[in-house]
Amino acid sequence: MDNQKQKIALVTGATGGLGTFMVERLMADGFKVIGNYRSESKKEAWIKKLKEEGHPVPLMYKADVSDYASVEAMMNKIREEVGTVDVLVNNAGITRDGSFKKMSFEDWDAVMRANLYSVFNCSRTVINDMLENGYGRIINISSVNGQRGQFGQANYSAAKAGMHGFTKTLAMEVAKKGITVNTISPGYIATDMVMAVPQEWRDKIVANIPMGRLGGMEEVAHLVCFLASEKASFITGANYAINGGQHVY
Ligand code: CAA
Repeated sequence: MDNQKQKIALVTGATGGLGTFMVERLMADGFKVIGNYRSESKKEAWIKKLKEEGHPVPLMYKADVSDYASVEAMMNKIREEVGTVDVLVNNAGITRDGSFKKMSFEDWDAVMRANLYSVFNCSRTVINDMLENGYGRIINISSVNGQRGQFGQANYSAAKAGMHGFTKTLAMEVAKKGITVNTISPGYIATDMVMAVPQEWRDKIVANIPMGRLGGMEEVAHLVCFLASEKASFITGANYAINGGQHVY
């Protein structure tokens, strides 16, 4: 950590695969980390596992990030009990894959809410504190499939592409206030989400990754920590691809 005050970092979807690695790395870098979660039972199992493996446990706050009122209540509680958020990592997300001709409105809506509305909900409820503090880092976890499209992911691709449009505009609006806003677009990382893709499709996808492998969750966490650091202060409105060469442009 490059400055006196311990900075507060909030990671949404902390109990997921990528979230877990982000939380661990941010704590190792000296942040006071808050993990956001949605399911009580998943959180309990997650904390138990961290403890068993000898890892430190972050502060945990519950909210459904797809629901504005739920996020607002969580942020008010965090502000009162911990302090204002310096680093927000919009990491929570879901998939509801299916070819478009079969896609239900519910699957479209759920993905838009969890992956894109969540970014509005969380960013909107921390931005005024960041503006007041004259400091902030917002890191949006998008996807290679928001950059290039993917069969079966019209909903997910739309939400993930929307995330970067949001990043570019917010970056411009807050650039003079010490706040940076960036997107990370991971390719296929060895998460539960990717492992849930039927093997037949997954094998075909990996065959098209020049590095010939899935990405590691720690590789994404490393990039998050870099963008979260104070020294990454001239990087804003950027979209970082981290995909093993799968999509170069
Ligand atoms: N490319 C081209 N054609 C495809 C295809 C593909 N990827 N997937 C299916 N098709 C074709 C089938 O061959 C079949 O063709 P015919 O009708 O001529 O036989 C037709 O489309 C089948 O269409 P269906 O609607 O029946 O599709 P399905 O049920 O067989 O499978 C799917 C659709 C479930 C979406 C499947 O394609 C799939 O799982 N794809 C992978 C999706 C994916 O990559 N998800 C990423 C999740 S992880 C993540 O999102 C993290 C991240 O950010 C990277």
